[in-house]
Amino acid sequence: MMSLKDTLTFQGSKATQLLRTQHIRTVELSEGFLENSVELKQYLDHIKFSINVHFVLEEGVLFPIFRPILQKYLEMEEPIRVIMGEHTSVKRLYQAVSSPVTQEGGIDIESSDEEKTIKSGQIAKIMLQHVYKEENGLFGLVDKFMPDEIKEETQSKLEQKMKSLS
Ligand SMILES: [Fe+2]
Ligand SMILES: [Fe+2]
Repeated sequence: MMSLKDTLTFQGSKATQLLRTQHIRTVELSEGFLENSVELKQYLDHIKFSINVHFVLEEGVLFPIFRPILQKYLEMEEPIRVIMGEHTSVKRLYQAVSSPVTQEGGIDIESSDEEKTIKSGQIAKIMLQHVYKEENGLFGLVDKFMPDEIKEETQSKLEQKMKSLS
């Protein structure tokens, strides 16, 4: 079967490389989960990492630096808005999978494994097209439009933030 992993290079400028390298694992695990070769727990652990680390690096470092540059050259911020919307979808689905639902009468009921698997499959599909969109879309814009000295600065801020999160 054709894998998304084979269609992407995961190579970019200093401003995007750390994040692109993290995408490799996301694509491997998402494809693996959809093909039943990755277990639910392992997959959900990776989604937790994506939400708590990867998305934070993007939303807390890369996007704030890039947003004014994007607006200056292209007079738009739509690509960032779309990407952030997908982060929100993933967070909502993860929340639904990982926390028990309170039923009438105040009894907490865990979702069944089947429900968790279905929702996690939705997460995996979003993640795959999300990474594809970043690799071929937004990150390409960053690599093209961000001035070199700001790329250097972004790289060191990403590394610092990464250390503070792990
Ligand atoms: Fe993202
Ligand atoms: Fe990403």
